[in-house]
Amino acid sequence: MSGPVAPSCFTFLVPRITKNRIIFCLLLVNLVLIFLYSEVKRQSSSLSRPNPGGYRGGKPEGINTDSSSHAPASDALIINSDIGDPVIFEPYWLKYGIDMVIPPWHSISYVSSQRQISPFFEDFLIDEIISVHKIVGNAVTKDRHIVIGAGSIQLLQAALYALSVNDRSPPLKVVSAYPFYSAYPMVTDFVQSKLYEWAGDAMDFEATSNRDGYIEIVNYPNNPDGTFRHAVVNGSGGLIHDLAYYWPQYTPITSPADHDIMLFTLSKFSGHAGSRVGWAIVKDLKVAQLMSKYIFLNTIGLSRDAQARAAHIMSIAGKSYAVLWSVVLVSLFKTTHLLFVPFLVKPQHHIQRLLG
Ligand SMILES: Cc1ncc(COP(=O)(O)O)c(C=O)c1O
Repeated sequence: MSGPVAPSCFTFLVPRITKNRIIFCLLLVNLVLIFLYSEVKRQSSSLSRPNPGGYRGGKPEGINTDSSSHAPASDALIINSDIGDPVIFEPYWLKYGIDMVIPPWHSISYVSSQRQISPFFEDFLIDEIISVHKIVGNAVTKDRHIVIGAGSIQLLQAALYALSVNDRSPPLKVVSAYPFYSAYPMVTDFVQSKLYEWAGDAMDFEATSNRDGYIEIVNYPNNPDGTFRHAVVNGSGGLIHDLAYYWPQYTPITSPADHDIMLFTLSKFSGHAGSRVGWAIVKDLKVAQLMSKYIFLNTIGLSRDAQARAAHIMSIAGKSYAVLWSVVLVSLFKTTHLLFVPFLVKPQHHIQRLLG
Protein backbone atom coordinates (compact mmCIF):
# COMPACT_ATOMS: atom_id res chain seq x y z
CA MET A 1 0.00 0.00 0.00
CA SER A 2 1.39 3.25 -0.97
CA GLY A 3 0.32 6.32 0.81
CA PRO A 4 1.54 9.88 0.43
CA VAL A 5 5.28 10.12 1.01
CA ALA A 6 6.14 12.22 4.00
CA PRO A 7 8.08 15.28 2.80
CA SER A 8 11.75 14.93 3.61
CA CYS A 9 13.65 17.89 4.90
CA PHE A 10 15.69 17.84 1.61
CA THR A 11 12.87 18.13 -0.92
CA PHE A 12 13.48 21.81 -1.38
CA LEU A 13 16.79 20.85 -3.09
CA VAL A 14 14.96 19.00 -5.86
CA PRO A 15 12.87 21.66 -7.55
CA ARG A 16 9.71 20.58 -9.20
CA ILE A 17 9.81 20.82 -12.99
CA THR A 18 7.05 23.12 -14.02
CA LYS A 19 6.30 24.82 -17.35
CA ASN A 20 7.22 28.22 -15.90
CA ARG A 21 10.57 26.97 -14.70
CA ILE A 22 11.40 25.51 -18.12
CA ILE A 23 10.59 28.84 -19.81
CA PHE A 24 12.69 30.68 -17.22
CA CYS A 25 15.68 28.37 -17.82
CA LEU A 26 15.42 28.74 -21.60
CA LEU A 27 15.35 32.52 -21.23
CA LEU A 28 18.44 32.37 -19.01
CA VAL A 29 20.36 30.20 -21.50
CA ASN A 30 19.33 32.61 -24.26
CA LEU A 31 20.62 35.59 -22.34
CA VAL A 32 23.96 33.86 -21.70
CA LEU A 33 24.28 32.99 -25.39
CA ILE A 34 23.48 36.57 -26.45
CA PHE A 35 26.09 37.87 -24.00
CA LEU A 36 28.75 35.46 -25.25
CA TYR A 37 27.99 36.24 -28.88
CA SER A 38 28.23 40.00 -28.31
CA GLU A 39 31.57 39.51 -26.48
CA VAL A 40 33.03 37.55 -29.39
CA LYS A 41 31.70 40.17 -31.82
CA ARG A 42 33.21 42.98 -29.75
CA GLN A 43 36.61 41.32 -29.66
CA SER A 44 36.71 40.45 -33.33
CA SER A 45 35.53 43.91 -34.37
CA SER A 46 38.29 45.51 -32.27
CA LEU A 47 40.68 43.38 -34.34
CA SER A 48 39.17 44.29 -37.68
CA ARG A 49 38.60 47.96 -37.01
CA PRO A 50 41.98 49.53 -36.34
CA ASN A 51 42.49 52.78 -34.55
CA PRO A 52 42.69 55.24 -37.48
CA GLY A 53 46.25 56.46 -37.74
CA GLY A 54 47.50 53.44 -35.80
CA TYR A 55 49.33 53.17 -32.52
CA ARG A 56 49.48 56.33 -30.51
CA GLY A 57 50.61 54.88 -27.22
CA GLY A 58 53.82 55.27 -25.27
CA LYS A 59 57.12 55.54 -27.11
CA PRO A 60 59.51 52.62 -27.21
CA GLU A 61 62.22 52.92 -24.61
CA GLY A 62 65.51 54.37 -25.79
CA ILE A 63 64.17 55.70 -29.06
CA ASN A 64 63.70 59.40 -29.40
CA THR A 65 60.26 59.92 -30.87
CA ASP A 66 59.70 63.44 -29.69
CA SER A 67 58.62 64.93 -32.99
CA SER A 68 55.03 65.55 -31.88
CA SER A 69 55.40 69.33 -31.70
CA HIS A 70 56.36 69.35 -35.39
CA ALA A 71 53.79 66.81 -36.56
CA PRO A 72 52.03 67.55 -39.87
CA ALA A 73 48.45 68.75 -39.62
CA SER A 74 46.90 65.55 -40.95
CA ASP A 75 47.36 62.46 -38.77
CA ALA A 76 46.88 60.21 -41.78
CA LEU A 77 50.05 61.57 -43.37
CA ILE A 78 52.40 61.03 -40.46
CA ILE A 79 55.73 59.40 -41.27
CA ASN A 80 57.59 59.17 -38.02
CA SER A 81 61.18 59.60 -39.17
CA ASP A 82 62.62 58.22 -35.91
CA ILE A 83 60.91 54.84 -35.72
CA GLY A 84 59.26 55.03 -39.16
CA ASP A 85 55.91 53.61 -37.99
CA PRO A 86 54.25 52.89 -41.35
CA VAL A 87 50.56 53.38 -40.44
CA ILE A 88 50.17 55.20 -43.76
CA PHE A 89 49.52 51.74 -45.30
CA GLU A 90 46.49 51.06 -43.11
CA PRO A 91 43.79 52.47 -45.45
CA TYR A 92 45.03 50.25 -48.32
CA TRP A 93 44.74 47.09 -46.23
CA LEU A 94 41.40 48.15 -44.77
CA LYS A 95 40.01 48.54 -48.27
CA TYR A 96 41.74 45.83 -50.29
CA GLY A 97 43.07 43.33 -47.76
CA ILE A 98 41.83 39.75 -48.08
CA ASP A 99 41.14 38.03 -44.76
CA MET A 100 43.09 35.01 -43.70
CA VAL A 101 42.42 32.52 -40.93
CA ILE A 102 45.06 30.62 -38.98
CA PRO A 103 43.26 27.73 -37.27
CA PRO A 104 44.34 26.88 -33.71
CA TRP A 105 45.83 23.53 -34.74
CA HIS A 106 48.12 25.14 -37.30
CA SER A 107 51.89 25.67 -36.79
CA ILE A 108 52.06 24.15 -33.31
CA SER A 109 55.51 22.66 -33.72
CA TYR A 110 58.69 24.73 -33.28
CA VAL A 111 59.92 23.59 -36.64
CA SER A 112 58.44 23.65 -40.10
CA SER A 113 60.78 23.17 -43.00
CA GLN A 114 63.05 20.38 -44.12
CA ARG A 115 64.32 22.18 -47.19
CA GLN A 116 65.59 25.55 -45.92
CA ILE A 117 68.94 26.29 -44.26
CA SER A 118 67.06 26.52 -40.97
CA PRO A 119 64.07 24.36 -39.94
CA PHE A 120 62.46 27.48 -38.46
CA PHE A 121 61.88 29.13 -41.84
CA GLU A 122 58.56 28.44 -43.59
CA ASP A 123 58.92 27.15 -47.16
CA PHE A 124 55.84 29.02 -48.33
CA LEU A 125 57.18 32.35 -47.01
CA ILE A 126 60.52 31.86 -48.76
CA ASP A 127 58.69 30.97 -51.99
CA GLU A 128 56.60 34.13 -51.65
CA ILE A 129 59.70 36.29 -50.96
CA ILE A 130 61.42 34.96 -54.09
CA SER A 131 58.27 35.42 -56.15
CA VAL A 132 57.76 39.05 -55.02
CA HIS A 133 61.39 39.97 -55.76
CA LYS A 134 61.02 38.42 -59.21
CA ILE A 135 57.82 40.38 -59.93
CA VAL A 136 59.27 43.67 -58.68
CA GLY A 137 62.79 43.09 -60.00
CA ASN A 138 64.50 44.76 -57.05
CA ALA A 139 66.85 41.99 -55.89
CA VAL A 140 68.68 38.97 -57.23
CA THR A 141 67.49 35.80 -55.51
CA LYS A 142 68.86 33.08 -57.81
CA ASP A 143 71.45 30.93 -56.00
CA ARG A 144 71.04 33.05 -52.86
CA HIS A 145 70.13 31.99 -49.32
CA ILE A 146 67.20 33.50 -47.47
CA VAL A 147 67.29 34.06 -43.73
CA ILE A 148 64.13 35.06 -41.90
CA GLY A 149 64.16 37.10 -38.70
CA ALA A 150 62.19 39.37 -36.41
CA GLY A 151 62.38 42.46 -38.59
CA SER A 152 65.50 43.78 -40.22
CA ILE A 153 66.80 44.98 -36.85
CA GLN A 154 67.29 41.38 -35.67
CA LEU A 155 68.76 40.47 -39.06
CA LEU A 156 71.20 43.38 -38.81
CA GLN A 157 72.44 41.99 -35.50
CA ALA A 158 72.62 38.51 -37.00
CA ALA A 159 74.69 39.89 -39.90
CA LEU A 160 77.05 41.76 -37.55
CA TYR A 161 77.56 38.52 -35.63
CA ALA A 162 78.10 36.44 -38.77
CA LEU A 163 80.65 38.86 -40.23
CA SER A 164 82.65 39.22 -37.03
CA VAL A 165 82.50 35.91 -35.14
CA ASN A 166 85.42 34.29 -36.95
CA ASP A 167 87.56 37.41 -37.02
CA ARG A 168 90.54 37.29 -34.67
CA SER A 169 91.19 41.05 -34.72
CA PRO A 170 90.00 43.53 -32.05
CA PRO A 171 86.29 44.46 -32.31
CA LEU A 172 85.37 45.29 -35.89
CA LYS A 173 84.43 48.93 -36.46
CA VAL A 174 80.85 49.33 -37.63
CA VAL A 175 80.33 52.44 -39.77
CA SER A 176 77.72 54.05 -42.00
CA ALA A 177 77.84 57.27 -44.02
CA TYR A 178 76.19 60.22 -42.25
CA PRO A 179 73.24 60.89 -42.02
CA PHE A 180 72.39 57.31 -41.10
CA TYR A 181 69.34 55.56 -39.60
CA SER A 182 69.38 56.40 -35.89
CA ALA A 183 69.00 52.77 -34.76
CA TYR A 184 72.36 51.63 -36.21
CA PRO A 185 74.58 52.95 -33.38
CA MET A 186 72.11 51.89 -30.66
CA VAL A 187 71.69 48.38 -32.00
CA THR A 188 75.42 47.90 -32.61
CA ASP A 189 76.51 48.90 -29.12
CA PHE A 190 73.53 47.63 -27.12
CA VAL A 191 75.02 44.31 -25.99
CA GLN A 192 78.58 45.71 -25.81
CA SER A 193 79.85 42.85 -27.91
CA LYS A 194 83.54 42.01 -28.00
CA LEU A 195 83.14 41.23 -31.69
CA TYR A 196 82.18 44.67 -33.04
CA GLU A 197 81.58 48.26 -31.98
CA TRP A 198 80.01 51.37 -33.45
CA ALA A 199 82.59 53.74 -35.00
CA GLY A 200 80.35 56.43 -36.55
CA ASP A 201 80.48 58.13 -39.94
CA ALA A 202 81.91 55.96 -42.73
CA MET A 203 83.35 59.09 -44.42
CA ASP A 204 85.46 59.87 -41.34
CA PHE A 205 86.53 56.23 -41.16
CA GLU A 206 87.56 56.32 -44.83
CA ALA A 207 89.77 59.31 -44.06
CA THR A 208 91.71 57.42 -41.37
CA SER A 209 94.94 55.58 -42.21
CA ASN A 210 93.96 52.27 -40.51
CA ARG A 211 91.00 50.85 -42.35
CA ASP A 212 91.40 47.23 -41.33
CA GLY A 213 88.61 45.34 -39.66
CA TYR A 214 85.34 47.08 -40.38
CA ILE A 215 81.74 46.49 -41.43
CA GLU A 216 79.95 49.17 -43.43
CA ILE A 217 76.18 49.48 -43.42
CA VAL A 218 74.84 50.96 -46.65
CA ASN A 219 71.22 52.04 -46.74
CA TYR A 220 69.42 52.97 -49.97
CA PRO A 221 67.20 54.85 -50.47
CA ASN A 222 68.71 56.22 -47.30
CA ASN A 223 66.74 56.94 -44.14
CA PRO A 224 66.58 59.85 -43.36
CA ASP A 225 67.54 61.78 -46.54
CA GLY A 226 66.33 59.46 -49.34
CA THR A 227 69.67 59.48 -51.20
CA PHE A 228 71.01 56.56 -53.21
CA ARG A 229 74.24 55.29 -51.76
CA HIS A 230 77.26 53.12 -52.39
CA ALA A 231 79.82 51.88 -49.92
CA VAL A 232 82.22 54.73 -49.16
CA VAL A 233 85.04 52.88 -47.39
CA ASN A 234 87.64 51.71 -49.86
CA GLY A 235 88.69 48.43 -48.29
CA SER A 236 87.87 44.79 -47.91
CA GLY A 237 85.55 44.94 -44.89
CA GLY A 238 82.13 43.34 -44.63
CA LEU A 239 79.14 45.03 -46.23
CA ILE A 240 75.52 45.00 -45.12
CA HIS A 241 73.02 46.60 -47.47
CA ASP A 242 69.84 47.73 -45.74
CA LEU A 243 67.29 47.88 -48.58
CA ALA A 244 64.22 48.44 -46.43
CA TYR A 245 62.97 51.15 -48.82
CA TYR A 246 64.03 49.68 -52.15
CA TRP A 247 60.45 49.13 -53.26
CA PRO A 248 58.42 50.81 -56.03
CA GLN A 249 56.27 52.89 -53.67
CA TYR A 250 59.38 54.80 -52.54
CA THR A 251 61.66 54.87 -55.56
CA PRO A 252 61.91 53.73 -59.18
CA ILE A 253 63.43 50.26 -59.34
CA THR A 254 66.23 50.61 -61.86
CA SER A 255 67.91 47.20 -61.52
CA PRO A 256 67.91 44.17 -59.25
CA ALA A 257 70.19 44.80 -56.27
CA ASP A 258 72.97 42.25 -55.97
CA HIS A 259 75.03 42.55 -52.77
CA ASP A 260 76.54 40.10 -50.28
CA ILE A 261 73.92 40.69 -47.56
CA MET A 262 70.68 42.52 -48.36
CA LEU A 263 68.13 43.25 -45.64
CA PHE A 264 64.41 43.70 -46.34
CA THR A 265 61.49 44.14 -44.00
CA LEU A 266 57.73 43.67 -44.11
CA SER A 267 57.53 46.92 -42.10
CA LYS A 268 58.41 49.01 -45.15
CA PHE A 269 57.25 46.58 -47.82
CA SER A 270 53.59 46.49 -46.82
CA GLY A 271 53.47 48.48 -43.57
CA HIS A 272 53.13 45.46 -41.27
CA ALA A 273 55.73 46.60 -38.75
CA GLY A 274 53.88 44.90 -35.90
CA SER A 275 54.30 41.46 -37.48
CA ARG A 276 58.08 41.79 -37.03
CA VAL A 277 59.06 39.97 -40.19
CA GLY A 278 62.24 40.66 -42.09
CA TRP A 279 64.41 38.68 -44.47
CA ALA A 280 67.99 38.74 -45.62
CA ILE A 281 69.19 37.64 -49.04
CA VAL A 282 72.69 36.31 -48.57
CA LYS A 283 75.30 35.22 -51.13
CA ASP A 284 77.58 33.16 -48.94
CA LEU A 285 76.18 29.94 -47.46
CA LYS A 286 78.43 30.10 -44.36
CA VAL A 287 77.32 33.67 -43.58
CA ALA A 288 73.67 32.64 -44.03
CA GLN A 289 74.19 29.67 -41.71
CA LEU A 290 75.79 31.86 -39.03
CA MET A 291 72.94 34.35 -39.31
CA SER A 292 70.43 31.51 -38.96
CA LYS A 293 72.33 30.24 -35.91
CA TYR A 294 72.11 33.69 -34.32
CA ILE A 295 68.36 33.76 -34.91
CA PHE A 296 67.98 30.23 -33.57
CA LEU A 297 69.83 31.07 -30.34
CA ASN A 298 68.23 34.49 -30.02
CA THR A 299 64.53 33.72 -30.55
CA ILE A 300 64.36 30.10 -31.80
CA GLY A 301 63.29 31.32 -35.20
CA LEU A 302 60.42 33.65 -35.87
CA SER A 303 56.75 33.15 -34.91
CA ARG A 304 55.23 30.78 -37.46
CA ASP A 305 51.97 32.74 -37.24
CA ALA A 306 53.83 35.87 -38.28
CA GLN A 307 55.48 33.98 -41.13
CA ALA A 308 52.09 32.74 -42.35
CA ARG A 309 50.65 36.25 -42.18
CA ALA A 310 53.65 37.67 -44.01
CA ALA A 311 53.35 35.07 -46.79
CA HIS A 312 49.67 35.92 -47.23
CA ILE A 313 50.36 39.67 -47.36
CA MET A 314 53.28 39.24 -49.75
CA SER A 315 51.18 37.09 -52.00
CA ILE A 316 48.50 39.81 -52.30
CA ALA A 317 51.05 42.61 -52.69
CA GLY A 318 53.14 40.73 -55.24
CA LYS A 319 50.18 39.63 -57.33
CA SER A 320 48.66 43.11 -57.24
CA TYR A 321 51.79 44.34 -59.07
CA ALA A 322 51.79 41.62 -61.70
CA VAL A 323 50.17 42.53 -65.02
CA LEU A 324 47.83 39.54 -65.12
CA TRP A 325 46.41 40.07 -61.65
CA SER A 326 46.16 43.86 -61.87
CA VAL A 327 42.74 43.41 -63.53
CA VAL A 328 41.27 42.18 -60.26
CA LEU A 329 43.68 43.44 -57.58
CA VAL A 330 44.49 47.05 -56.74
CA SER A 331 48.26 47.51 -56.63
CA LEU A 332 49.73 48.08 -53.17
CA PHE A 333 52.80 49.79 -54.58
CA LYS A 334 50.97 52.11 -56.95
CA THR A 335 48.32 53.08 -54.40
CA THR A 336 50.73 53.76 -51.57
CA HIS A 337 53.21 55.52 -53.86
CA LEU A 338 50.63 58.29 -54.25
CA LEU A 339 50.53 58.67 -50.46
CA PHE A 340 54.29 59.07 -50.32
CA VAL A 341 54.55 61.60 -53.16
CA PRO A 342 54.37 64.70 -50.87
CA PHE A 343 57.30 63.32 -48.88
CA LEU A 344 59.29 62.02 -51.84
CA VAL A 345 59.06 65.29 -53.76
CA LYS A 346 60.39 67.36 -50.89
CA PRO A 347 62.06 65.03 -48.40
CA GLN A 348 64.38 67.76 -47.10
CA HIS A 349 61.44 70.07 -46.51
CA HIS A 350 59.56 67.34 -44.64
CA ILE A 351 62.59 66.45 -42.50
CA GLN A 352 63.09 70.09 -41.61
CA ARG A 353 59.42 70.34 -40.60
CA LEU A 354 59.86 67.33 -38.34
CA LEU A 355 63.13 68.46 -36.85
CA GLY A 356 62.06 72.07 -36.43
C1 LIG B 1 66.42 52.03 -42.87
C2 LIG B 1 65.68 51.20 -41.93
N1 LIG B 1 66.11 49.94 -41.68
C3 LIG B 1 65.48 49.14 -40.81
C4 LIG B 1 64.37 49.57 -40.13
C5 LIG B 1 63.72 48.66 -39.12
O1 LIG B 1 62.88 47.76 -39.72
P1 LIG B 1 62.19 46.57 -38.89
O2 LIG B 1 60.85 47.06 -38.47
O3 LIG B 1 62.11 45.46 -39.84
O4 LIG B 1 63.07 46.21 -37.74
C6 LIG B 1 63.89 50.86 -40.33
C7 LIG B 1 62.71 51.33 -39.59
O5 LIG B 1 62.36 52.48 -39.55
C8 LIG B 1 64.56 51.68 -41.25
O6 LIG B 1 64.14 52.92 -41.47
